[in-house]
Amino acid sequence: MAAASKNMKLLVTGGGGMLEQTLSPRLRQRGHDVVALSKGELDVTNFEQVDKVMSSVRPDLVIHCAAYTQVDLAESEQEKAFLVNYTGSENVAITAGKLQIPMLYVSTDYVFDGTQSRPYLPADETSPLSQYGKSKLAGELAVQRYCPQHYIVRTSWLYGPYGRNFVDTIYKLAQERGEISVVADQVGSPTSTLTFSEVIADLIETGRFGVYHATDDGVTSWFDFAREIVKGLEFHGKKITVLPIETKDMPRPAPRPAYSVLDKTDLVNVLARPLTPWQVALEEYLRLKAVKAPA
Ligand SMILES: NC(=O)c1ccc[n+]([C@@H]2O[C@H](COP(=O)([O-])OP(=O)(O)OC[C@H]3O[C@@H](n4cnc5c(N)ncnc54)[C@H](OP(=O)(O)O)[C@@H]3O)[C@@H](O)[C@H]2O)c1
Repeated sequence: MAAASKNMKLLVTGGGGMLEQTLSPRLRQRGHDVVALSKGELDVTNFEQVDKVMSSVRPDLVIHCAAYTQVDLAESEQEKAFLVNYTGSENVAITAGKLQIPMLYVSTDYVFDGTQSRPYLPADETSPLSQYGKSKLAGELAVQRYCPQHYIVRTSWLYGPYGRNFVDTIYKLAQERGEISVVADQVGSPTSTLTFSEVIADLIETGRFGVYHATDDGVTSWFDFAREIVKGLEFHGKKITVLPIETKDMPRPAPRPAYSVLDKTDLVNVLARPLTPWQVALEEYLRLKAVKAPA
């Protein structure tokens, strides 16, 4: 079956995005033939273009990474967020369904409201707080409706070598200021695009469609995550100070779930391997960053 074979032709949307830039090379290393298309090459909001491109590329699987990801801006750009995350995903799902091509949709922990006190299972009730979360959930529902052979993979707190992310922001602020305040009352699981790409590469070789939760292993707060990022860093000979603050002290346009922990048991069972602890993934990323940083 093509969907579970080792050498697939893969069409990746959202080319040039943070995830795609780590994912596509990893998939090529695995022996897949990857066609990654940027917004300029494949605008997912343009149904005719989606139909034309997917019909001509005829991949074995579409990995749909394209998204509107500006969480705070989405509160005032609701239409734009829904156009990309809902209509765009619907366009890909309708076309994939019609051509009988399986698809993988990358989704988010923000489909949950964070009021639970135990990790969220893939089948738990969704209730997004933000416009971004609502638009990503609408995308999930479109995928479920139009493309029966799908993987929906929810991840959280994503960072990686390409694109703006929390780790780089903290690293930079720490070097500039020596003291930073970070929210301590939101918990979840950081996820490196390096480990997440490995998970996606493993999952698509299983052919086991379904809804999955996929993050790095373990739970932390943004505050403790920041402390781990700056561990060992010094500023003018002094250690960096990270101060805990509450969400209410740092108002932002989009509400975030306070408890954003995802249960990954299904994924671990299907992959038959453990997930990487978030501290290990972070260390790998920081090492890579240090190697890449100019002397
Ligand atoms: N970042 C996180 O913390 C996080 C957490 C959980 C889940 N996710 C999900 O992970 C996936 C990948 O996110 P990411 O962090 O890699 O985001 P990203 O860096 O913003 O990449 C998204 C890509 O989609 C492209 N895009 C936007 N509108 C498009 C359109 N109409 N047609 C085609 N491409 C379009 C963007 O291009 P332009 O930049 O040119 O607009 C960008 O290259 C997304 O589905 C996101 O929802 C992210």
